[in-house]
Amino acid sequence: MPRCRVNLSTMIFLVILQGAAVVLFCGWYVQLSPCDSAPSNGKVHVLLLSSWRSGSSFLGQVFSQHPSVFYLMEPAWHVWTSLQKPSARVLRMAVRDLLRSIFQCDFSVMEAYLPENHNVTSLFMWSHSRALCSLPACPLTPRNQLSNQTLCFQKCDSTDLQGVETACSSYSHVVLKGVRFFELESLYPLLQDPSLDLRIIHLVRDPRAVVRSREESAKAFVNDDAIVLEHRARSIPAVEVQYQVMQEICRSHVRINERAVLKPPPFLKGRYKMVRYEDVVRNPLEEINGMYEFAGLKMTTQLAEWIYKVTHGKGKGSANAFQITSRNAAHVSQAWRSTLPHNKVKRIQEVCKGAMSLLGYRTVNSEKEQKRLDIDLLVPREPYQFSWLPAKTEHPSKS
Ligand SMILES: *[C@@H]1O[C@H](CO)[C@@H](O)[C@H](O)[C@H]1NC(C)=O
Ligand SMILES: *[C@@H]1O[C@H](CO)[C@@H](O)[C@H](O)[C@H]1NC(C)=O
Repeated sequence: MPRCRVNLSTMIFLVILQGAAVVLFCGWYVQLSPCDSAPSNGKVHVLLLSSWRSGSSFLGQVFSQHPSVFYLMEPAWHVWTSLQKPSARVLRMAVRDLLRSIFQCDFSVMEAYLPENHNVTSLFMWSHSRALCSLPACPLTPRNQLSNQTLCFQKCDSTDLQGVETACSSYSHVVLKGVRFFELESLYPLLQDPSLDLRIIHLVRDPRAVVRSREESAKAFVNDDAIVLEHRARSIPAVEVQYQVMQEICRSHVRINERAVLKPPPFLKGRYKMVRYEDVVRNPLEEINGMYEFAGLKMTTQLAEWIYKVTHGKGKGSANAFQITSRNAAHVSQAWRSTLPHNKVKRIQEVCKGAMSLLGYRTVNSEKEQKRLDIDLLVPREPYQFSWLPAKTEHPSKS
């Protein structure tokens, strides 16, 4: 057998070649590996996807008050109120691109929707964002303290959009609330964008409770309803509008949930969590812990105490559509059963039949059944299985 002979220069060449291969491969590997150099820089982006009057203001506050979160309530409001003759379908890409920019703390996109002389106060419901009441945006509230909207509104009105960007960049989590999505597909580019680590929390609520709550501030919804129903709105009798809007909302819940659960595209796996408002109301700490965990946030003792307090107050709810007051949330969530006429309940059940069955809300067949509060209309959910993130939750001492 011939001996394999390798001379010195071949040897040196091979060693250099191997070295180059290692360097090249590592560079390539680091680029691909999300753990070594997270393209989103470890930032997490959360979209609280919900519908009008479904408890999303409250959940928004649950995130806004967290010391690691930069929160903004409903930036899509600017798009819906700025563009002429819109319909939900036409607006959704503009809304999607707005969210992408804001998730990346780029507020230049807002210029299109704001008056010429703008500052932080031009942003919709800006004082609901604890981050805009804390440094670097405003010296009022230490980051680890709860924010008071009234005081913030009075004292934190001087920062400009650049200040908002700086504030946004200083947080590990950007959370945006949106009630203006009716499908998930338009969000696919955000889920596939390597600079984002997007997680979607889909908040739903019993449509009968939603109708009761919408009726308390019906005027607030006239413009949005027209956009939801598109050109059909004008030809629909006024009494029918709310049922048709509810039908659209219920259909969108089915569309979104089925898309995310039945056959999710690979980039959606593990990035969607459905939450029922009623479950949050019954077990606030447990459910909110679950949402924090999904978003990679830790519960703090202070937040746990605040959550307990605002979900166990005495009042019956406020007429102001956006205010969160201390009230007995469990009681409020059942209020429709004594106040909505049964014929209305029947209509809502008809237009929302599919959604109610999918989401686990039992229908009532008579007025008697409706009013008997000992009959539980919430179908228990399977315990939520979630395994791709390590459990990070620190359980609060108080529950
Ligand atoms: C917020 O501050 C205002 C003004 O000082 C005060 O009246 C109100 O009670 C405070 N709200 C809360 C929830 O602490
Ligand atoms: C911010 O803008 C609002 C509305 O244009 C204005 O009333 C307010 O004075 C401005 N605040 C400061 C500190 O410039």
